[in-house]
Amino acid sequence: MKALDILNLKKTFLSNFLIHKYRILNGIDLSVEKGEIYGFLGPNGAGKTTTIKCVLGLISFDSGEISIMGHPAGTTAGRRTLGFLPEHPYFYDYLNAEELITFSGRLFNIPRKQLKARTKELIELVGLKNKENLKLKKFSKGMVQRVGLAQALVHDPDFLILDEPFSGLDPIGRKELRDIILSLKEQGKTIFFSSHILQDMEMMVDKVGIILDGKIIKEGKLNQLISHSVHYNEIIFSRIDKKQLIEDNIAFQERDGNFILKSESSEETNRDIEYIIRNKGSIISVIPVKMTLEDIFLKEIKR
Ligand SMILES: Nc1ncnc2c1ncn2[C@@H]1O[C@H](COP(=O)(O)OP(=O)(O)OP(=O)(O)O)[C@@H](O)[C@H]1O
Ligand SMILES: [Mg+2]
Repeated sequence: MKALDILNLKKTFLSNFLIHKYRILNGIDLSVEKGEIYGFLGPNGAGKTTTIKCVLGLISFDSGEISIMGHPAGTTAGRRTLGFLPEHPYFYDYLNAEELITFSGRLFNIPRKQLKARTKELIELVGLKNKENLKLKKFSKGMVQRVGLAQALVHDPDFLILDEPFSGLDPIGRKELRDIILSLKEQGKTIFFSSHILQDMEMMVDKVGIILDGKIIKEGKLNQLISHSVHYNEIIFSRIDKKQLIEDNIAFQERDGNFILKSESSEETNRDIEYIIRNKGSIISVIPVKMTLEDIFLKEIKR
């Protein structure tokens, strides 16, 4: 059984006065295995939040199927396995962290004694110890994000959905959130999060789905997406006169007194190497430069 399975999900919004129909999701297919961290990557307006709202059962959809831990979206059984951190969390300003988490826990009917212990544990997990009595209105963006994560975890859900959890966090905040998410994975939880911050994905996700204009244009294990894609070869060489390279119309760069050629295919690499040998140059190294997630993302959205 998958943690999340979305099949051909379609969603249209109607404009005011019901005149125009906007197709926002054009047949989303994606699946999340249990225990993995799935990165849902896409530019602004691609349909990430809309997809998440459908999964949570917050909005209806035109057609398609969604199952969460084997339960259809929108059912109580499905919801019970889920914890959710919204894109722009808004909590009651005059509560403190302890009160907010306790309040969320009561909604799940967690017994008082158990809830007290759970609240303490969560405050520690998200690094808000010693801040439990500070009112939420005095919280920084990063602290709001942390307390939001704590309240999403109060009923110990197996599956966490986080909409743009890294947005607005500084590098330290991002690193800390990354560590918390990784520790949740170690506890066996499944995490699905959306973002357009590629760097954060590269450092932690198992699988990525790239969404553009309401469609998944690429989905796969991160190591397959990245390691199978050699972007170009970088050939570093020396001992050929610069004037000659210019005369021969060679597109080179210079670094540390050496020359560099970038070749995008193996034929091109062969040709470049032959040229260097023919001209009695000295090859220092040939380095395959792998595609980063950012390169893949940019290539896909340019198509
Ligand atoms: N209730 C609504 N009525 C009409 N259009 C909507 C509604 N909600 C979202 N949209 C439109 O659907 C598209 C996708 O929005 P969505 O919020 O899902 O994007 P997103 O990928 O989450 O973007 P972001 O990265 O900015 O959060 C946008 O063009 C948005 O304007
Ligand atoms: Mg969004």
